[in-house]
Amino acid sequence: MSTRALPTASALETARVVLGVLIPTIAKGPIIRRPRIVGLVARWDLDARAVGIFRRLQEKYPDGPLLLKLPVRDQAILLAPADVDTVLGGSPEPFSPASSEKRAALSHFEPHNVLISRGPVRSVRRALQEQVLDTHHPVHHLAEWFVPVVRQEMKDLLARAERTGTLPWDDFLDAWYRVVRRVVFGDHARDDKDLTGMIIRLRKDGNWAFLKPVRSRTRARFLQRISDELANAEPGSLAAAMASAPRGDGAEPTEQVPQWLFAFDPAGMATFRALTVLATHPEALAAARREIDGDDSGRRVLPYLRAAVLESLRLWPTTPMILRQTTRPVQWEHGLMPDGCGVLVYAPYFHRDERNLRGAHSFLPERWLTNEDAAWPLVPFSDGPVICPGRQLVLLLTSAALASLVDDHDFSVHSGQRLDPERPLPGTMDNYSITLRVSARR
Ligand code: HEM
Repeated sequence: MSTRALPTASALETARVVLGVLIPTIAKGPIIRRPRIVGLVARWDLDARAVGIFRRLQEKYPDGPLLLKLPVRDQAILLAPADVDTVLGGSPEPFSPASSEKRAALSHFEPHNVLISRGPVRSVRRALQEQVLDTHHPVHHLAEWFVPVVRQEMKDLLARAERTGTLPWDDFLDAWYRVVRRVVFGDHARDDKDLTGMIIRLRKDGNWAFLKPVRSRTRARFLQRISDELANAEPGSLAAAMASAPRGDGAEPTEQVPQWLFAFDPAGMATFRALTVLATHPEALAAARREIDGDDSGRRVLPYLRAAVLESLRLWPTTPMILRQTTRPVQWEHGLMPDGCGVLVYAPYFHRDERNLRGAHSFLPERWLTNEDAAWPLVPFSDGPVICPGRQLVLLLTSAALASLVDDHDFSVHSGQRLDPERPLPGTMDNYSITLRVSARR
């Protein structure tokens, strides 16, 4: 085995990555977004610039992972598509998703969650998540409960929006949280804003990872609330599916639930962003409406709208940094990656590569319905054995929500960030700034 180290970026190149990619991405808030910073990043086009920094590095170091010259730890970035397959396919061993910074961040609210677990308990927790979230089925076994919830909440939202003629992001998010609480815990939790508030507070701490002490008492209270919900789970909820699922030793069901509450947030963001694109891209909207008109699945199987959400996540990935850490030294063709080395897949760099993707900056849901990008890493939900186990459930609920919204209503951008279908889509979509104009469809 060669002991040659991997190629290493210069101090200047490393500084560019830190200042131009890592700091803006982390400042936006890895665990819960900071709206004001998202606004600044959008205004200064920092996400698009970050992609440019990676592209220039790739032109100089085309093959294999590149080590950064950081004083604090070993950290590699991936620039070649094949390396993404190697790392995500080689998870959780030797590329563990339980990286130090992720453990520090998520420990604020779910210290025993699968995503930051290692060893045999990871498999037990993963198996439980897959079973409850029905990972391998496009239509969740509780869809007959969930889809009507989405339809009803979107109908109520539209009734309110019609009165004012507008739909700001905050109103959409309130309605989305109602969907999430009903899907996760059942109808009784519909208006339980305290529960959402508790996890929002803990997630804000999570943004600071090691830099903020864990609020142990708030966390204990929050986890106790979830434990009580599981003990009295309402039929037709994910909690009920969790309560009745067989589980192995160390599964820690209570601590698997906060990840759902947390991760439904980006699903709402992706839905609102897709809605904004549909509002400004008449051809895509027409395709969506054709699908809705011809639907005989009760809104459970809407491939074009699912693809629209995937395309929203490709353009604006809600997990832009997929992180891994090696659990032993790993030999690559061009050198050795040390044990404990952080590995970063910066998704926007791959997702917006116009050298390798048709219409990299355009909204083309069709790409998800064909094999055209099969050889390219489009990884909004990650990939390999650690791929998001909630992917299908997310696509079910978000496509049903979009269908309810665009079926009988027209939308346009009332205020906030503008999107022009004739121009490349921006590197950042500042959903917080956007208010849509709404009217009943004639
Ligand atoms: C748009 C919405 C979502 C996106 C983009 C997303 C994306 C991701 C990504 C990228 C990962 C893997 C991280 C990694 O490889 O390190 C992940 C993991 C995970 N996601 Fe999601 N997620 C979403 C929503 C959800 C929802 C709603 C749930 C549950 C209801 C969920 C449950 C999980 C779980 C349990 C894991 C950990 C998997 C493991 O460690 O094996 N996600 N998600």
